[in-house]
Amino acid sequence: MKDKVYIQDLGKYVGREVKLEGWLYNKRSSGKIKFLILRDGTGLLQCIVFKGNVTEEEFEIADKMGQESSFRVFGLVKEEPRAPGGYELDVKKLELISESHDYPITPKEHGIEFLIDHRHLWLRSKRQTAILRIRHRIVKAIRDFFDSRGFTLLDTPIITPTSVEGTSTLFETQYFDLGKAYLTQSGQLYAEAGAMALGKVYTFGPTFRAEKSKTRRHLTEFWMVEPEVAFFDLNDDMDLAEEFIEYVVQTVIKDKAEELKTLERDTSKLEKVKRPFPRISYDEAVEILKKNGVDFPWGDDFGGADETIISDQFDRPVMVHRYPAEVKAFYMKRDPENPKLALAVDVLAPEGYGEIIGGSQREDDYDELVKRIKEHNLPQEPFEWYLDLRRYGSVPHSGFGLGLERTVAWICGIEHVRETIPFPRMIYRNTP
Ligand code: 4AD
Ligand code: MG
Repeated sequence: MKDKVYIQDLGKYVGREVKLEGWLYNKRSSGKIKFLILRDGTGLLQCIVFKGNVTEEEFEIADKMGQESSFRVFGLVKEEPRAPGGYELDVKKLELISESHDYPITPKEHGIEFLIDHRHLWLRSKRQTAILRIRHRIVKAIRDFFDSRGFTLLDTPIITPTSVEGTSTLFETQYFDLGKAYLTQSGQLYAEAGAMALGKVYTFGPTFRAEKSKTRRHLTEFWMVEPEVAFFDLNDDMDLAEEFIEYVVQTVIKDKAEELKTLERDTSKLEKVKRPFPRISYDEAVEILKKNGVDFPWGDDFGGADETIISDQFDRPVMVHRYPAEVKAFYMKRDPENPKLALAVDVLAPEGYGEIIGGSQREDDYDELVKRIKEHNLPQEPFEWYLDLRRYGSVPHSGFGLGLERTVAWICGIEHVRETIPFPRMIYRNTP
């Protein structure tokens, strides 16, 4: 009897009898009527159980069922503008699937540690499902953007023989008889090989940093999308980054209005995220800090607080380019105008969300790159394959990496990256 339907599709079933399955989100009662709020993963629906319309047994079930009990209902779909979602169900039949009592997460406030300990259950909340849906939409927008612009997806390895972004944040493991291996910090070096084969590529997957930082922006396992393009210089790279960010943000505002509303996100701030983005040099960024009373020594890398001051000057993401080479990775090309500088760019998100993109033009000269590897005290042998890219038909090329979780946090307007990934990994937590 009756078709199984989902709450998100109820508009098509007004006036018809349907079957729904899900969990009890909340309930209240008023004498002979029980109001059960059903949660089915696609939305919430108020189900009205009227004593006269169901058996005594069914009414008893409605009465006793605890939060998050799973059940099946059959009933008539009605339009009800005052109900959440705009519809309600006039219940004709009710079946308990599995009882739940003393569900740990009640509608009252819980501390963050308690909630993260129960992350596997916390995911069921309205706020968390909104964030997860937005994350999914962002992932799809990222793929659509590159797929529709001639990029080929290149999956890069997670187990690697080298560091990419410095040796201080490497997760190490013993790899059979072959010695030490590391969880990748970035797919970039392999993406560069891909760009020499396919022209335009992107890699998109989990990356790992043994980060000692306990901040709202750091995870030890996070997702990064990294485009890499042959014959691109730093300016081309910045053009791509701003078009990309604009596309992702504008797509999410358009398609995920309801979820953003659930999160009480002020979307007027996101609407401003349109090209062109301001581009300032590191030197200009240092000037901004000085004007704002920060005693900032030239040559240092920006901390989170510095990034906030810089980005607060603008109403959209700001691209800071040409950093001191000393604070940047070994593979970055030096600025021919000033070899103290690297042809690097960081994109800082507005509203204090900090760096969401790090990118650069790559060193394409064999001798220079060998020199950089030595200067960074890296062993040359594991990089021989990477040096081959400079031995055989080297070309100028550039790319960047966008951190997915920081981007989700910014677009959702939430404080900490721990809520942007289903099961966060941080310095003090690897469970559940
Ligand atoms: O600036 P990063 O370290 O750049 C790279 O890894 C380059 N290889 C990318 C490239 O050019 N292909 O990291 C890129 C981005 C950062 O801007 C940030 O958004 C994110 O990755 N990120 C982190 N996100 C969460 N937790 C961490 N510990 C992160 N470290 C970097
Ligand atoms: Mg960076």
